[in-house]
Amino acid sequence: MLKSKQPKRRIFSGIQPTGNLHIGNYLGAIKNWINLQEEDDCIFSIVDLHAMTVPNNLPDIKNSTLEVAAAVIAAGIDPKKSILFNQSSVPQHTELAWIFNCIARIGWLNRMTQFKEKAGKKKDNATVGLFSYPVLMAADILLYRATHVPVGEDQKQHLELTRDIASSFNTNFYKSLNKDFFRLPEPIILGPAKRIMSLKDGKSKMSKSDISEGSRINLMDDRDIIYSKIKRAKTDQYPIPDTIDELDNRAEALNLINIYASFSNKSVNEILHQFSGKGFSEFKGSLSDLIINNVSPITKEMKHLMNNKDEILKILINGSIKAQKIANEVLTDIKKIIGFNFKD
Ligand code: AMP
Ligand code: TRP
Repeated sequence: MLKSKQPKRRIFSGIQPTGNLHIGNYLGAIKNWINLQEEDDCIFSIVDLHAMTVPNNLPDIKNSTLEVAAAVIAAGIDPKKSILFNQSSVPQHTELAWIFNCIARIGWLNRMTQFKEKAGKKKDNATVGLFSYPVLMAADILLYRATHVPVGEDQKQHLELTRDIASSFNTNFYKSLNKDFFRLPEPIILGPAKRIMSLKDGKSKMSKSDISEGSRINLMDDRDIIYSKIKRAKTDQYPIPDTIDELDNRAEALNLINIYASFSNKSVNEILHQFSGKGFSEFKGSLSDLIINNVSPITKEMKHLMNNKDEILKILINGSIKAQKIANEVLTDIKKIIGFNFKD
């Protein structure tokens, strides 16, 4: 008898503990998690094993994991409502990844654009882990039989692969029954913040790895730094228009309006209506105030938590215990379905 239950709607998402978190991570990922936990059964993971895919990415993995956990908790993830844990404390992730490595095809992985971008020209020098990382991501999601996965647009292709693996498992291993074991997980891509762009170049994504500090606002930036980064953000000499169509070819202007809309939980059209005809110097003042009002309570709480690391560790350990319980049930079922059930 299989024991694991598939809930009506279960959310799983992960974030890598690499480097400074910025407002792109907050608006594109973490903020959406907070809203989901009110209604759904949510599991969120700091995916430290994923951070191993790039050599030298782990100068202080424990501290980076605690810092990202602090950001997630400070932003509003409530450990009483959601499960929050770090991936390496739940060994079932890697065990399921092996099983899925034997289901996924090299051709499927060869299509992954993120691998091509990250490996660059030196493909032979990339780790096997970087190549097979979407398989571990599929294991992360399916280990909890998650049905919905909030992600940024850049992760959509990995979710397609997860669906291919789930569907292949259903047909190749579970065909004796007329019900599928895995429901195919769906992406949740929310709000105007799908892609927050660099403050210096409206055509490239705001990113931790951009060498220009002025290209992003970090969650640890103080108010003076935020003011000065927004003041120096690239714009153009035209006023704010009435309609979104008039922002075509004005990528930097659109990006700042998008950031405003995301922080204020309004649509881009509402913001255009509010500021139409005004110049960017006035808009930038309001935008800085809005960002500071939203980010500074998070920064304050992150600092508090980073001075009380035991508090964060306790939350992660409790989360791991809860995650392991579900993971163990699902993996036991998967092993039974494959035929690895030597105990009963
Ligand atoms: P990364 O910083 O690439 O590890 O991404 C962590 C999470 O933040 C993922 O869910 C990304 O999709 C999201 N994310 C990263 N950068 C941005 C951005 N510039 N705009 C929106 N979401 C982002
Ligand atoms: N690959 C994701 C990223 O780089 C992080 C991630 C790992 C993830 N496992 C996941 C996201 C499972 C959603 C679900 O951002």
